[in-house]
Amino acid sequence: MESAGTDTEAVTVAPVPSALALPASFKWGVSTAAYQIEGAAAEDGRGPSIWDLFSRQKGRVVNGDTGDVACDHYHLYREDVALMRRLGAQVYRFSVAWPRVLPRGRGRTNSPGLDFYDRLIDELLESGIEPWLCLYHWDLPQALDDLGGWQNRDIAFWFADYAALIARRYGDRVRHFATFNEPNVCTLFGYGMGWNAPGIADRRSFLQASHHVNLAHGEAVRTLRTLVSDAQLGAIYNRQVCLPVSAAPEDAVAANLLDACWNRLYADPQCLAEYPPELVDGVEEFMHAGDMARIAQPIDWFGLNHYCPIYARADQGPLGFAWADAPRDRPVTGVGWRIDPDAFRDELIGTHKRYRLPIYITENGYGANETLDEAGGVNDGGRIAYLAAYTHALEEAVAAGADLRGYYVWSILDNFEWGSGYANRFGLVYVDYPTQKRVPKASFDWFARLIQAQRQRDRA
Ligand code: FCB
Repeated sequence: MESAGTDTEAVTVAPVPSALALPASFKWGVSTAAYQIEGAAAEDGRGPSIWDLFSRQKGRVVNGDTGDVACDHYHLYREDVALMRRLGAQVYRFSVAWPRVLPRGRGRTNSPGLDFYDRLIDELLESGIEPWLCLYHWDLPQALDDLGGWQNRDIAFWFADYAALIARRYGDRVRHFATFNEPNVCTLFGYGMGWNAPGIADRRSFLQASHHVNLAHGEAVRTLRTLVSDAQLGAIYNRQVCLPVSAAPEDAVAANLLDACWNRLYADPQCLAEYPPELVDGVEEFMHAGDMARIAQPIDWFGLNHYCPIYARADQGPLGFAWADAPRDRPVTGVGWRIDPDAFRDELIGTHKRYRLPIYITENGYGANETLDEAGGVNDGGRIAYLAAYTHALEEAVAAGADLRGYYVWSILDNFEWGSGYANRFGLVYVDYPTQKRVPKASFDWFARLIQAQRQRDRA
């Protein structure tokens, strides 16, 4: 696997970024998630989340890593916001840890936890950076998992109560709210395949959890709309083209099923008021009269996370597909994800045509297993080449008519990459975990220069 720390060759691919032909109001930013960066897992009254327990189970996370300390952003957030400012970021998309503000998921609130996000939001606003707040990036309070988690229908209403708390507390300063980050990953991997917390592998549980996530989304949108009059509400979907791993017809069927589960099971009911035909049978069992109307609340923007095409093969198991590794006939990132900017462009155009909402790319980025080089830096040419190619795809998609409004890199910092622990690094800034020292990589300067070039072009 490529180590970007020594990957100098690719730097020559994109030394100085030139401005892209994008709308003048286009926003540039960075994204993170609470469990991946905050640390302070048992501090100031935060309750446990499913990831605290899951990461402690043997064999779940590479090296037995946990988010206990992560980037210690809970204490170092000022330094991190200063880095965003230096980068020129206009937007910071982060998530609130539900168990930090409601240690048991509902009922008693936790003042020190609520205060933390006050401080973070104020620091961002003082730095001229728009806070974009995501309610759920997978760290479900363990107390709610004990009651069945996303398999318990009541969670839709617990989630709406949590949304109300957030709206009342931060709605005076935050305008952009997202309900869920990647409902597909937390339900398919969490309840269908057992790879993520809470580690269940069962088709019925997966479809049940998915329906309740959709319902929770609708209930939260309705709540936020009522409580924050000028709110801009959205949701964040992970969409990637699903390809058969071989030419066998059964693999094509498997890829279509994966597409239904991955790309359509959430955005379709939420934005188009319909479930994918392939899955209606399985979801029906959990539908109550009026559910679809509750789910399909109008939203203002579509958050798109995109990385690479994904592959399926036929499988005899209940899901009908199995995950397959990307064929190695094309370049891959340092963590083995296929590099395919044309697939990104096509996804942007396809998403525009299907959902007809303004699109913000809320995640895109490059992972590698990096180390500091002898000069104490990270010359991450592979990441620069990836970002250059993927931001160029934005231009192509806009030229083809897609309504794109912003692009947020995953991520500002290296962080806890779920099942891969700290081994996979996605940051523009290297984190030396033992010392918590932040070291901006070459890609940080590259992206800063791109934002600068873009803003100069906008002013001209
Ligand atoms: C996405 C997740 C994000 C991060 C990136 C690499 O699926 O939303 O938390 O793990 O992948």
